[in-house]
Amino acid sequence: MSARLSAAPPPSVRVRAPGKVNLALRVGPVGPDGYHPLATIFQAVSLFEEVTATQVAPGSGISLTVSGPQAEAVPTDETNLAWRAAALLAERTGLAADVALHLTKGVPVAGGMAGGSADAAAALVACDTLWEAGVPRPELVEMAAELGADVPFSLLGHTAVGTGRGDLLTPAMTRGEFHWCFGTQRTGLSTPSVFRRFDELAGSRASTVDPADDAELMHALRAGDPVALGTALHNDLEPAALDLRPELAEVLEVATEAGALGVVVSGSGPTVAALARSRQHALALGAAWTAADVVDSIWCASGPAPGTQVVTSVAR
Ligand code: C5P
Repeated sequence: MSARLSAAPPPSVRVRAPGKVNLALRVGPVGPDGYHPLATIFQAVSLFEEVTATQVAPGSGISLTVSGPQAEAVPTDETNLAWRAAALLAERTGLAADVALHLTKGVPVAGGMAGGSADAAAALVACDTLWEAGVPRPELVEMAAELGADVPFSLLGHTAVGTGRGDLLTPAMTRGEFHWCFGTQRTGLSTPSVFRRFDELAGSRASTVDPADDAELMHALRAGDPVALGTALHNDLEPAALDLRPELAEVLEVATEAGALGVVVSGSGPTVAALARSRQHALALGAAWTAADVVDSIWCASGPAPGTQVVTSVAR
């Protein structure tokens, strides 16, 4: 009997959180806190990070392992956002920070699709569930915002308007499913350096941001009209990303020539998002990129996708 009990798997929780694309990203002049005011429309897409939190012996501390594409590019120490999420939750709840985290990467690394933010959102929910902390949702969202501007959106998912640093969210109404193909580069771009280049290029000319500027885009979402959405895609960080990575211009061009409904750099890049008419068309756009040899990998997905959710939970 005792032998059977000791062979039982330790309690663990598996949680999945989506990556995102910014359908619109408007950036204002940098503030005294070093952050830029944003007016953005996020859409979660069906590329998911998975975080498994497993119980360990008391006093073991936090440990972290990573698998999946580009896993070798991900830090496995306390600088990892998932690690920081577990540590923050423990600190705020007074619980012991003892957990083994495993990340399965499904979102391009350092690609402007918030893969690291998804890890943080998933780790918060996984540890909250494993430790039976029962942190009320608003507090979880506050911790998410402390960890990074994109983390609250990964908790929420679907489509939402983001203001402030991008962390103040209002869900947006959409109809139907949108099909995407994402073209990624082996070497990522650092978000702070893209914002810095934005400052150098736009400087004090950066205008104040207003979500009302995206009225047409919001209408396209409500109507489920991918053609209108394609025309309305917009990213103020695109010139900065192109300046740092001039070869991205060709990625945009190839997708446009292949009939994409719209093409835009995703967030701070270097991932390029191409909107397609259908799942099949998304695959064709990816094939055009591969044939032109302008991206290192292609990832087809659809949006909107749900926010962070528990997939499985093995109880005590
Ligand atoms: O919040 P997060 O850590 O994801 O942001 C990474 C960096 O991106 C920040 O340190 C800042 O340099 C830049 N950023 C910004 N304005 C925002 C969001 C991020 O300047 N609204």
